[in-house]
Amino acid sequence: MKIKPISSYSKMSKLAAKIVAEQIINKPNTVLGLATGGTPLGMYRELVKLYKKGELDFSKVTTFNLDEYLGLSLEHPQSYHYYMYENFFNHVNIEEKNIHIPKGDTKDPVQECLNYEREIEKVGGIDLQVLGIGVNGHVGFNEPNINLEARTHVIQLSNETIRANSRFFKNLDKVPRKAITMGMATIMKSKKIVLMAWGIEKKKPILKVTSGHIATEVPASLLQVHNDVILIVD
Ligand code: PGA
Repeated sequence: MKIKPISSYSKMSKLAAKIVAEQIINKPNTVLGLATGGTPLGMYRELVKLYKKGELDFSKVTTFNLDEYLGLSLEHPQSYHYYMYENFFNHVNIEEKNIHIPKGDTKDPVQECLNYEREIEKVGGIDLQVLGIGVNGHVGFNEPNINLEARTHVIQLSNETIRANSRFFKNLDKVPRKAITMGMATIMKSKKIVLMAWGIEKKKPILKVTSGHIATEVPASLLQVHNDVILIVD
């Protein structure tokens, strides 16, 4: 794991955007794995800026988002669909057909998970996966547990995640209890990974991710096994 210490959120965002931009310039038909949440917002802003300056072309890029809440409509302001279009896709020249986000409004979540894995396989896997980390050490919505699911699956969100994400909802009761998430094996198969962590509440999980100890109770600690991870951290 390569550790890149940074001193501000803005520097983290710029560095992550630079890594993504270099990837797209080197391979215009890159398959990107994307994350949501507060962490990557600045990176998306930087990527949009690069696109508007004419320095980046997303026309051949394919994307797969890590996760989506189950039970929210696509238009719900807290769905990850809404987040991705609002903060990124509406502002760059990505093709609609190349965008993949698990469908949280599906009637058949198990089938949706199988389809999602199949779509990732079909394009030859993810070239560069962008990750944030939860306060409990989750990546995507792979929650701490004695067992982890390898592939895209339905997950019951942990109380810690529900509490942490309630800041985006009117109250705790409005936070969905379930989600669809890529599994740890799906994530680990990405050729390259960029993990961003910013803020004091991420100190505890990040110390575990760099501890040399691997535990399914800290899903992000599995990233220590991957041979091309860049950790951008304050
Ligand atoms: P955050 O969430 O970027 O909003 O802190 C990260 C996560 O839960 O994975």
